Amino acid sequence: METTLIIFKPDAVQRGLSGKILTRFEEKGLQIVGMKLMQISQELAATHYEAHQGKPFYDGLVKFMTSSPVVVLAVRGMGAIGVSRKMMGATFGSKAEPGTIRGDFGVSNSFNLIHGSDSPEAAERELKLFFKDGEVLDYNRAIASWVYDMSSGSPE
Ligand code: RTP
Ligand code: MG
Repeated sequence: METTLIIFKPDAVQRGLSGKILTRFEEKGLQIVGMKLMQISQELAATHYEAHQGKPFYDGLVKFMTSSPVVVLAVRGMGAIGVSRKMMGATFGSKAEPGTIRGDFGVSNSFNLIHGSDSPEAAERELKLFFKDGEVLDYNRAIASWVYDMSSGSPE
């Protein structure tokens, strides 16, 4: 099982799309193991996006991500990182395929609604940045045995 960090960016929250986007993750069968509304500070945005420091879009990106509250989630499932990235679609709203979150809800290349960790290393790092100890919960879901085929003893 993988756990990934998902952020509903300020445009998603301001446009009232948090519920619709959350529903996509729930309906896919992924498990929500952490969730909160928060304001990202300058420092946190800089740390989170440190790989993009110096790029032409960096200042605008930090300004955008700190402009209004976001919803941060810890999302768990088999291959949750790749599954979530596929659900999000291509980075730019203008390029993202219909059926994806960015493809269905946005047209902007900067205001692209959602962030998802892009590797296991990034997920581990980012989850620690956004969630304190005890804020990501382990719990059993009653539906688990219908979301995954458990007949072999491990989820398929
Ligand atoms: P994210 O990190 O937000 O999940 O998005 P991503 O992996 O699809 O894209 P990434 O390359 O990591 O870029 C991070 C965010 O920076 C903004 N961006 N703007 N104008 C540009 O050329 C440009 N490139 C990237 C986007 O908000 C992107 O999500
Ligand atoms: Mg990225």
